[in-house]
Amino acid sequence: MLGPEPVGLGCGACGASFPVVDGISLLVSDPDAWLAEERLAVLCRHDLPGPLLERLVRGGPNPLQRSLRRLWTYHHSRVGPLQDAVQQAISALPGPILELGAGLGAHGRAELTAVDLDWVLLSRNPAQQRILADALAPPFAPGQFAAVVALNLLDSCRDPLGLIDVMAAQLANDGQLLLASPLAYEDHITPISAQLDQAGVEAALSARGFTWTVEVHDWPLRTHPRTVSVHTGLLWRAWRGGSPLRPADV
Ligand SMILES: C[S@@+](CC[C@H](N)C(=O)[O-])C[C@H]1O[C@@H](n2cnc3c(N)ncnc32)[C@H](O)[C@@H]1O
Repeated sequence: MLGPEPVGLGCGACGASFPVVDGISLLVSDPDAWLAEERLAVLCRHDLPGPLLERLVRGGPNPLQRSLRRLWTYHHSRVGPLQDAVQQAISALPGPILELGAGLGAHGRAELTAVDLDWVLLSRNPAQQRILADALAPPFAPGQFAAVVALNLLDSCRDPLGLIDVMAAQLANDGQLLLASPLAYEDHITPISAQLDQAGVEAALSARGFTWTVEVHDWPLRTHPRTVSVHTGLLWRAWRGGSPLRPADV
C-alpha cells in the first residue's frame, strides 16, 4: 500500500519510496536507476521555447534530445484519418480509462490515467492522473478499468503479446479495449520473434476471449518540417464475449 512521504510515495510494507514530481508519480521498479538516465529531462524547465531547448541539448545523443524529437513529431502530427478515428472512439469510451504508452495525449481526452516511460511527453499530457511506469508491468490491481487504450504502442514496445495480456488483465469483465498500430516494428525495439502481424494480434485477442472490429486508416506523422511519413494504421475495438451489438456502443 503506497502512502505520502517527503520524496513522494512510500511503501509501508517494504520501505521503498517513489518520487512524485510536478504531480507525476515515478512508479518504475528502480526509480534511482531511471533517474540516473533521465534526470536531465526531469529537471528541464518547462518554460523554455522549443528552439532554445534544442540548442541546449545539441551535441552527443542524450535522452532529452531523443524525447524532444518525439515531442516535436507528436506535437505536429495531431491531424489525420487515424487521429480523427481515435479521437471519436476515445471520446465515447466509458470510464475509468487506462491509457498505456499515452505519450502527449494528443487525442485531448483528459479524464483518464496516462502511463508512459517518457518524462518529456508525459509531463505535457493533459491527463488527470499521470504515472511514469512500464506499460508492460503497470502498477495497478487487475480488472479495474472500464476501458484500456494503447495507441501506437504495440509496435513500439519490446513485447506486443505481453502488452495484449496486460490490457486484458487491467480490463473489467464488461470493459472495452482500444488498440491502434501500423505494425511498423523496429527490430532494435521489438525482437523479430516477438513481432505480431494483423493475424497474430487477432489470434491473441480471440485466445483471450475477445470479439473485435478492425478499421484501416492512414496515420500521417510529421518527422521533419519538410517530411511527412504516412503509415497504414489498424484500429481495433475489442470486448469480451460475442455480442454483435457492442461496436455500436463505442
Ligand atoms: C509511438 S509513441 C505513441 C504515443 C501516443 N500513444 C500517440 O499515439 O501519440 C509510443 C509511446 O509509447 C511509450 N512506450 C514505449 N514502450 C513503453 C513501455 N514499456 N512503457 C510505457 N510507455 C512506453 C513511448 O515512450 C511513447 O510515448
